Amino acid sequence: MAYDYDVIVIGSGPGGYVAAIRAAQLGLSTCIIEKDPTLGGTCLNVGCIPSKALLESSELYAVAQHEMAEHGVNASSVSLDLERMMQRKRGIVSDLTGGVKLLMKKNKIAVKHGLGRLLAEAPAGEGGGGGGGGKVEVAGETIAARHVILANGSEPIELPFLPFDGERVVSSTGALAFEAVPEHLVVVGAGVIGLELGSVWARLGAKVSVVELLPEILPNSDKQMSKLLLRTLKKQGLEFLLGCKVKGAEVQGEGVVVRYEDGDGAEQTLACDRVMVCVGRRPRSEGLAEAGVALDDKRRVAIDDHFRTNREGVYAIGDLVRGPMLAHKAEDEGVAVAELIAGQPGHVNYEAIPNVIYTHPELAEVGLSEEAAKARGFEVRTGKYSFKPNARAKTLVGAEDGMVKLVACAKTDRLLGAHIVGPRASDMIAELVMAFEFSASAEDVARTVHAHPTLSEIVKEAALAVDKRPIHG
Ligand code: NAI
Repeated sequence: MAYDYDVIVIGSGPGGYVAAIRAAQLGLSTCIIEKDPTLGGTCLNVGCIPSKALLESSELYAVAQHEMAEHGVNASSVSLDLERMMQRKRGIVSDLTGGVKLLMKKNKIAVKHGLGRLLAEAPAGEGGGGGGGGKVEVAGETIAARHVILANGSEPIELPFLPFDGERVVSSTGALAFEAVPEHLVVVGAGVIGLELGSVWARLGAKVSVVELLPEILPNSDKQMSKLLLRTLKKQGLEFLLGCKVKGAEVQGEGVVVRYEDGDGAEQTLACDRVMVCVGRRPRSEGLAEAGVALDDKRRVAIDDHFRTNREGVYAIGDLVRGPMLAHKAEDEGVAVAELIAGQPGHVNYEAIPNVIYTHPELAEVGLSEEAAKARGFEVRTGKYSFKPNARAKTLVGAEDGMVKLVACAKTDRLLGAHIVGPRASDMIAELVMAFEFSASAEDVARTVHAHPTLSEIVKEAALAVDKRPIHG
C-alpha cells in the first residue's frame, strides 16, 4: 500500500492540531508531525498563552500596587517574585500542551516529533503512476499520505541590523522569559506583541519606550479606538516614539544603544538595557518551493479557496497562508480543510474573524473600521457608548476608559464593524461576531435582551446609539 495515512499534518499549532482532530473525527487515519518536544506550536508554547499568563499576573501586580486603597484594602507591602510568576506561566503552558497530547491520544492520532520535510517526489498512485498527496521525511523515516496539510506556522522577523542575541536583543520569545525586570526596555514596533509585552514589563516596573515606524499605532484598527488605546497606555507610563524608524543598535557593555531616525529625519539614540524587536512574523515556508509548492510574493504558500496548493493532495493553512496571523483563524481553517478533504463543505467566514489585543483596557474588533467602511463606499452610521455610565463597569477596576463603537450601513442598518476598548473586550466581542455571522443589523442587537448588570449592556446601548436612542446617555 502506497500510503501510511489518509492525512499527515505538519505542525501542531492551533491550525495543525485542530485539523488533525477534525480529520480523525471524520474517520481519517491521521499523523501529526511536530519539530518541538511539546505540542501546541507558537500559540501555546511561546505566544498567546504565556503572554496572557504574564498579562494577568502583571495586571494583578499593578492593581495591587496602585488600585487597592480605594477598595479599602491595604496592600502596602506588595512585592514581586518574578520567578514565581514565570513558574505559574510555565505551569499553564505545560498543562495546555499536555492537554493537546491527550487529545491526540484520545483521537488515535499518531504523533511524530522531528522536523517534517515534504519531499518533491509524490507517492506512487494505485496503478503505479504518481498519485496525489505527499511523502514526508521525519526523524529518519519517510511516510506517505493521500493528503498532506502544511501548518508550519510563522516565526519572528529579524531586522538585519538588529539580530536577536537571546539576551539583550530579543524577540517575543525572549521577552516572555526575562530573568529580571529590565530597567529600560525599548520595544521596536507598536504592533500587537509590542503593546502586549510592553504592557507586561511596564506594569512590572520597567521604563518602556515603544519606537514605531508609522505615525500611529495599529494602523488597521478603527482610528478612534486606536487613539483611545494609545492615550490610555500613555497614562499607564508607556512612552511612544511614533513616526520613528529604528536603524540599528550597538551593544555597549551591559546596555544597548538603539539608533533611530525621528519624524524630521534626524538621527537619535536611545540607551537601554533590553530591546524587544516585534516588527511582524514571517511564514515558515523554507524548503517548500524545493518540494514543488508554489509560494506567493510574501513567501506564503499560495492556496485557492479550498486551501489547495498547486500540488495535488497538499494543502496549507494558518500563518503559512494569506490572512491575519491569528490562532483562531488557523483553527477554523484546520476544521474547514479536514472537512473538505472528507468531502464535506468546509468553509471559513473571513468577514467575521475577531481581533483582540490583550492590553488593559483590551481592544477587540470584528469587521471594518469606520475608515475602511467609508473607503469601500459605504455610507455609515456609527453608535458609540462609553463604559463610564455602565453599572457593572463602575464596580470593576480601571473600566472608565472604555468604549464600544458600532459601524452600520446607513441604508440597510447591517453591521459593518464592531470595536470595543475596555476590560473584558475579548469576551464582549463574541456576541458581535455572532451578529456578523447572522448578518445582523444594529437594530437586531439593540432589540436583544442583555442581562443587567453586565458590560454587554454597553453593546446594546451602542446599538441603540446607531439610531440615536440610547437609554442611558
Ligand atoms: P505587527 O505586524 O502587529 O506590528 C509590527 C509593527 O512594527 C508595525 O506597526 C510596523 O510599522 C512596525 N515596524 C516595522 N519595522 C520597524 C522599524 N524598523 N522601526 C520601528 N517600527 C517598525 O507585528 P507583531 O506585533 O510582531 O505581531 C506579529 C503577529 O502576531 C501579528 O500578525 C499578530 O496578529 C500576531 N499576534 C497576535 C496576538 C493576538 O491576537 N492577541 C498577540 C501577539 C501576536
